[in-house]
Amino acid sequence: SSSVTVKASSASSSPPTTIDQELRIKTVPTQPFEGQKTGTSGLRKKVKVFMQENYLANWIQALFDSLPPEDYKNGVLILGGDGRYFNREAAQIIIKIAAGNGVGQVLVGMDGIMSTPAVSAMIRKRKANGGFIMSASHNPGGPDYDWGIKFNYSSGQPAPESITDKIYGNTLSISEIKMGDIPDVDLSRLGRVDYGAFSVEVVDPVADYLELMENVFDFSLIRSLLSRSDFRFIFDAMHAVTGAYAKPIFVDKLGASPDSISNGVPLEDFGHGHPDPNLTYAKDLVDVLYGENGPDFGAASDGDGDRNMILGRAFFVTPSDSVAIIAANAQETIPYFKTGPKGLARSMPTSGALDRVAEKLNLPFYEVPTGWKFFGNLMDEGKLSICGEESFGTGSDHIREKDGIWAVLAWLSIIAYRNKDKKPGEKLISVSDVVNEHWATYGRNFFSRYDYEECESEGANKMIEYLRDLVSKSKAGDKYGSYTLHFADDFTYTDPVDGSVVSKQGVRFVFTDGSRIIFRLSGTGSAGATVRVYIEQFEPDASKHNVDAQTALKPLIDLALSTSKLKEFTGREQPTVIT
Ligand code: G6P
Ligand code: ZN
Repeated sequence: SSSVTVKASSASSSPPTTIDQELRIKTVPTQPFEGQKTGTSGLRKKVKVFMQENYLANWIQALFDSLPPEDYKNGVLILGGDGRYFNREAAQIIIKIAAGNGVGQVLVGMDGIMSTPAVSAMIRKRKANGGFIMSASHNPGGPDYDWGIKFNYSSGQPAPESITDKIYGNTLSISEIKMGDIPDVDLSRLGRVDYGAFSVEVVDPVADYLELMENVFDFSLIRSLLSRSDFRFIFDAMHAVTGAYAKPIFVDKLGASPDSISNGVPLEDFGHGHPDPNLTYAKDLVDVLYGENGPDFGAASDGDGDRNMILGRAFFVTPSDSVAIIAANAQETIPYFKTGPKGLARSMPTSGALDRVAEKLNLPFYEVPTGWKFFGNLMDEGKLSICGEESFGTGSDHIREKDGIWAVLAWLSIIAYRNKDKKPGEKLISVSDVVNEHWATYGRNFFSRYDYEECESEGANKMIEYLRDLVSKSKAGDKYGSYTLHFADDFTYTDPVDGSVVSKQGVRFVFTDGSRIIFRLSGTGSAGATVRVYIEQFEPDASKHNVDAQTALKPLIDLALSTSKLKEFTGREQPTVIT
């Protein structure tokens, strides 16, 4: 696999090249492709599907056909990606179609690299009209794997369903593509090229993002921790996009040792890896943290840099706890939140740990469907500061995407703050100490998710239909084994800002003791159907907090499997991933 070298933070800008030619626009005839409907976050397919002639071009043109002209004519668009296979070709296609549709300027990350949170940050900082992200997030990359494209709007948030539905509609009737007749852009050098009214600038993908992080966090506090000789830190970039960010931020700015970054070079196939920071796919990192004499703190991020996993020595912080703990400590440890968070939110399947923090801090609290886009409206209205999802996404209103490096810096801030007065040799307060204290204060929400990936769609759909039917027949007080039903529904969300309603967002059974079992089909898979089962149980008694989650949840997991007849419908004995 070929490596993507990003010299971004050290490279100096070459002088702008002005090619004073008129921009010629050509019209390319095309025919619709079926199935260009976007899922939870953009359009994701196998690379080979995207490599069909005009497949990507059709979707990009359909997008311009769906936007009001004032949203892009003579406007600025950001373009970045996670470094995966096909990004370089895709970038050229996108730039040409942007030119053909009257966009004024495209700012593209060097080598086509820019993380999802950095694109969101740059859209906001440069007051751009929007941006494209070339990524299939945590899905594997390479000629036989996945590719994807997302479009984010002017406040940096993923395009709303009203736009993605329109795009889909337009993909079904598209007949021509408008392309600027310009040569391929040299993505390997910083600098700007003008073609009449259109220009492309190759930019440093790190600088704006780093500046934002320096404004959000107390870098000298974090540096005081990372430069200690009695604190060992490891960040696994999984050969994905945060490889371009980890050294400039953790090493150059914050004093971590250079060997604390592993898999720090972005590769087109992520080094044959599956760039998803969880216990299954980030196993190498997990083994290091659970090994003999492991480091004190470990973290990883996914393909496009928006997900995160936080580990202590021989300790895993479940994402549902992570957001709750960040929220509980934010005001004290992160300057951006010094007047306190405005509100907190989580996705429906995420555990209720955050709810308890909101209650204690007396903060507004929101429960939204799975998908980061649902947080954006609340943030724009000033109702929400910190939010997270069980799917390893954590973030805040500093941008409009979840942010892997932000989450790592938030955790480092908490640990640094708790240890700021510790003398060398004194025992440090660890990640597991912080989590255990949190549970002692708030109680523990045991949580686990079982994934059954790439099931036959038919069986998976039938299972959901069966569950919906069960919901319609169920009533409060029904017995499910030793559990008593409080209510069951298929989650519907009404956006408190614009009143829009989304339904069928996940079947949930909520029991009288607060335990929940939830069933959803993933909206991010690229083949077949992925069934997700979420299991949660609250335990107030601190003497029972140190039980393994799988052990504590066993009865509820069995109940979820039998209630859904999952084995019968999907033919699966075991999940493919447990988190
Ligand atoms: C992406 C989205 C998240 C979502 C996750 C899982 O990372 O940005 O908002 O929670 O995928 O989605 P899925 O539909 O696969 O459960
Ligand atoms: Zn991602």
